Formats: sequence, structure tokens, C-alpha cells
Amino acid sequence: MIKPGIPEAANEIVVTDRRLLACLEDGQPDIGTLWELCMYFEFDREETADGIAAWLGEPRGQRILDCACGSGFPALELIRRGYDVTCTDGSEMMLRHFRRNARIEGLDIKPVLLDWADLPGRYDREFDVVINRGGGNYIYAGVWEEEGLAAESAMAEAIGQWAACVRPGGRLYVDTTRAQDLDRTEPQIVRHPTMVIGDHRVDIVEQVSIDRVRRRRAWESELTVDGVRTNFRRRSHYIRHEQLLAALRDLGLEGIRREPIRGEFYDVYTATRPGGPGSAGRPVATEEVPDR
Ligand SMILES: C[S@@+](CC[C@H](N)C(=O)[O-])C[C@H]1O[C@@H](n2cnc3c(N)ncnc32)[C@H](O)[C@@H]1O
Repeated sequence: MIKPGIPEAANEIVVTDRRLLACLEDGQPDIGTLWELCMYFEFDREETADGIAAWLGEPRGQRILDCACGSGFPALELIRRGYDVTCTDGSEMMLRHFRRNARIEGLDIKPVLLDWADLPGRYDREFDVVINRGGGNYIYAGVWEEEGLAAESAMAEAIGQWAACVRPGGRLYVDTTRAQDLDRTEPQIVRHPTMVIGDHRVDIVEQVSIDRVRRRRAWESELTVDGVRTNFRRRSHYIRHEQLLAALRDLGLEGIRREPIRGEFYDVYTATRPGGPGSAGRPVATEEVPDR
């Protein structure tokens, strides 16, 4: 549980984001609602999408798969910028958020309900770029919607399933928890300012704690919408960047590197599948990053 005694909200902010207002008016809050709201405090969607687009290069000639499209970031923003993005996710609940956001953006996109385990059978080596973005989605492999904890092996398997969809010479984009957050020894507790969204008042308290002995991490949140509180708890393994790098290397990927993405909140790694005529879009460096 989140500890009592955390500071009161320092202030309140008026939020005019249409997607967030529609989200609040779309039934009971779920993990997708929480995710949509938390993203507001982490980054600016348009700025981060511009940063990802700068890494992608010209849209022309690139087929992209966002295999954890969730509620639509960054797929919807990239589609608006002219990219050809196939959107998949294993959660019907998240896709409900996606469809609402797509409608608001005026985009007629049909996301595909697809578990990562089924990606290789469906899209074997098809895409120029595969994106999996959202703060290290592999750490919640298979358990994003529940409180469970997947087997540690599920994480490397998940990354392999994403990479299987990259064509020879194509690129993979994955992100992960920021290195400085992995180094924290005390629980990190954040009470966000009260959000005033239309007629609604929203308070969020988040706590991330790391148990280094058991190598576990817990993200606990209290979401209060118009006085009604909902609690969420998600557990994951404690995975450092070098473990992610090892998983990428074990897949035989090349050019594995930490990529500074303008406007991105998380740490991003990119890699190339060897053997193709060369990656579409911007060329990638071949130098590997050292372990951190
Ligand atoms: C943290 S959200 C990120 C959503 C979006 N990419 C973003 O950045 O806002 C993680 C997403 O991964 C999806 N996911 C988790 N495990 C999955 C699996 N085994 N197969 C398919 N999708 C999965 C969840 O349903 C969720 O939508």
C-alpha cells in the first residue's frame, strides 16, 4: 500500500486535453484510464512523437508495427504524420481506449487484438520498423491487466516475439525504465497536482518500490476521480538495462544502441536485424553501447 503521510497536492492544474476528458467520461476507471492520465505528467505527446519521427526518418517506404499500441501513443501521432503503422495490442480494454482516441483524432484505424505470442506467426519479418514503447512493456509481459507476475523468462520471450516481426535490415525500438529510477533505493512517491478536466477533479498518487533482494518492483497507484478512489498495483521483475541489452544480443540483433529520443520520458534502445539490404529511413550506427 502507498504509505500515509505523503505530501498534499501542491497545486491544481486545468487540463484541456480532449482525449483525457473523453476518457474520464467513458465509464469506470481502469488501468488504461490511469495510463492515459499519468502520461500527461511524463511527456508531451506531440513533442515525443516528433522525436520518434526524427529517429524514424521519412515516412515513405517504411512499414511500421506498433505491437503494444495500447491507447494509441505513439501510433496515432505517427499515422497523423503520414507513417504507415499497423497497430496491435493484446488487451481489448486498451484497444477500447485506442478506438476512442482514434475517433477523436478523426482517424479511421482498426487496431488488431493480438498477443505478442502470436506476432511471429502473423507478421514474420514483415516490418521495416517494430516499435514497443511504454516504459519497458516487457516487464509486464502477459500481466498488464492484472496484479500477477509473469515468469522472468517471459520478458526475453516477449522481446523475441517483437523482433521476429522485423525484416532483415529493419529496426527495433524498445524502451525501458530510466536508469536513474532503477538506481533508487527508497520508494519513489509522487503526488501529482490535482487535475481539473472539464467538470472533473482527478488526483493521482503513484509509488514505485524496488525490492533488490527479491529483484522485484511494484508500481502502486491511487486514482481518485470526483472523490471516488480506485487502487491499482502492478508487479514486475527488477530488470536493469544490461539485462535488456543481453536479451537483444541473444536475438542476434546488431547496432544495439541507446538512442536519445527528443521529448521521450523513458530510456530507449534500438537495434537492427542483420542481413538486409539496409534499413529504411535514417541509417543506424553499428557501434554497441557498453553495459550500464
Ligand atoms: C504501458 S502500455 C503502453 C501503451 C502505449 N504504447 C503507450 O506508450 O502509451 C503497455 C501495453 O502493452 C500491452 N501488452 C502487455 N502484454 C502484452 C502481450 N502479452 N501481448 C500484447 N500486448 C501486451 C498492454 O495491453 C498495454 O496496452
